[in-house]
Amino acid sequence: MLIKLYKNLKKNIREDGLIVNSSGFLVRAMLAKVDFSKDLRILEIGSGKGPFTRQLASRMSPGSTLDVCEIKSEYNPWIEKIIADSPRKVVRLHNCCVTDLLRQADYYDVIISSLPLKNFEDRATRNAFLYKVLHAVQYGLKEGGVYLQYQYFKSNQTDIEQVFGKSMDTVSFVPLNILPAFVYEMSKPTALSQTVTAE
Ligand SMILES: C[S@@+](CC[C@H](N)C(=O)[O-])C[C@H]1O[C@@H](n2cnc3c(N)ncnc32)[C@H](O)[C@@H]1O
Repeated sequence: MLIKLYKNLKKNIREDGLIVNSSGFLVRAMLAKVDFSKDLRILEIGSGKGPFTRQLASRMSPGSTLDVCEIKSEYNPWIEKIIADSPRKVVRLHNCCVTDLLRQADYYDVIISSLPLKNFEDRATRNAFLYKVLHAVQYGLKEGGVYLQYQYFKSNQTDIEQVFGKSMDTVSFVPLNILPAFVYEMSKPTALSQTVTAE
């Protein structure tokens, strides 16, 4: 019994980068950064069983759309239940790697990611997959759009800053989560502000 529990825990951490679902504190802290009064194109990456998805579906305006990207189909029943419970909202589930979904430039107003970026680090390839993911996120986000990402241990902040070419807008700490988490908020600069910065 204990051995099975330990094996499951190890599998969760290795594959999903988490021990249990994100807490309500973390979900609220991240979603407080989104202005739900506007119609938004929202992408959630790495929904798992949907602690963020349920709140997103409930808070988004009827004119908004929510794309949920989750590589593992074993979580589908939880996400499908949220979709069924939100008949007046446009929520679409995509079972694929996020790099396959983000093919359209400047599309999303908000990207909310639970991806375990630290797990994507790989010295042998000089973090090729990690950077593929971050470039895809940057590409798919509208100018002025916001990328929200939580991480344990404050990892990968400089990787995100490198890809976006600027410092993080805010970094906040949410202690009431297993594990305590850092929330990164990164807005995509407009082409104009990029030109001004470069001059
Ligand atoms: C840390 S869990 C987060 C689950 C949930 N959002 C939460 O906060 O409790 C990360 C999720 O990202 C998914 N994932 C990992 N790599 C992915 C990828 N390349 N594309 C889409 N989803 C991915 C995993 O299957 C896992 O469900």
